[in-house]
Amino acid sequence: MGSLSAIPQHIAIIMDGNGRWAKQRGKERYEGHIAGVDSVRAVVRAAARNGVKWLTLYAFSTENWGRPAAEVDAIMELFCKTVMSEAEELCSQGVRVVIMGERSRFSTKVREMIDHIERSTAEATRLTLVLAFNYSSRSEITLAVRDIARKVSLGEIRYEDIDEEVISAHLMTRSMPDPDLIIRTSGECRLSNFLLWQASYAEFYFPEVLWPDFDEAQFDKALEVYAQRDRRYGVVADEE
Ligand code: IPE
Ligand code: IPE
Ligand code: MG
Repeated sequence: MGSLSAIPQHIAIIMDGNGRWAKQRGKERYEGHIAGVDSVRAVVRAAARNGVKWLTLYAFSTENWGRPAAEVDAIMELFCKTVMSEAEELCSQGVRVVIMGERSRFSTKVREMIDHIERSTAEATRLTLVLAFNYSSRSEITLAVRDIARKVSLGEIRYEDIDEEVISAHLMTRSMPDPDLIIRTSGECRLSNFLLWQASYAEFYFPEVLWPDFDEAQFDKALEVYAQRDRRYGVVADEE
């Protein structure tokens, strides 16, 4: 059994259910995304308070470009607004922000906001907040394979030296530990192209609550659930 002192080093969250939250209230989907920002604030606070060192939030998948243009535009706009309004507060809380995803498809404004938030929080050391924004795991792995193949063809890596460490070192998560706990809100039980390689031995938690209703108490509950899990990594403990 785990113990209550078992705080995950890295928690990754698939923030799902904003659209349903809005529809239940007769609102437009984008209003659910706006409400979801409060939950982001709450989990960042709770993660820092509990001594979690890495918090990764799935904010926009590469597949999410397929949504109606008005919703995509609203998400991009919300990202820019949130960066502007939160940068100072995040910095003072000791939160370093890193954006993980393919950047070339973003508008100049979004790219400027990414630079702004990364630069202004770069020195913070209490918690690293990774926002997966235009991220998908399969495209991340594809880019890594391409990069490794290029290095092999240039003689920089010998093909027989390609091991799990080399692959990990070519992913967008190269400087991060694997997630210990993956939470997906809204009751859906799937990864939707998130951290497929890194999730090998993660614990999963699927609360029914929609993302805008996820708060600090829900976060603490997730930590309690995690602390009860028995992580065996495929091995059997010595018999007592
Ligand atoms: C998650 O909420 C936020 C993003 C994917 C950007 P959804 O927008 O997926 O909300 P539901 O799942 O449709 O309720
Ligand atoms: C996953 O949620 C992506 C994010 C939370 C950013 P989706 O709502 O896009 O995933 P599906 O469509 O339910 O699999
Ligand atoms: Mg969804």
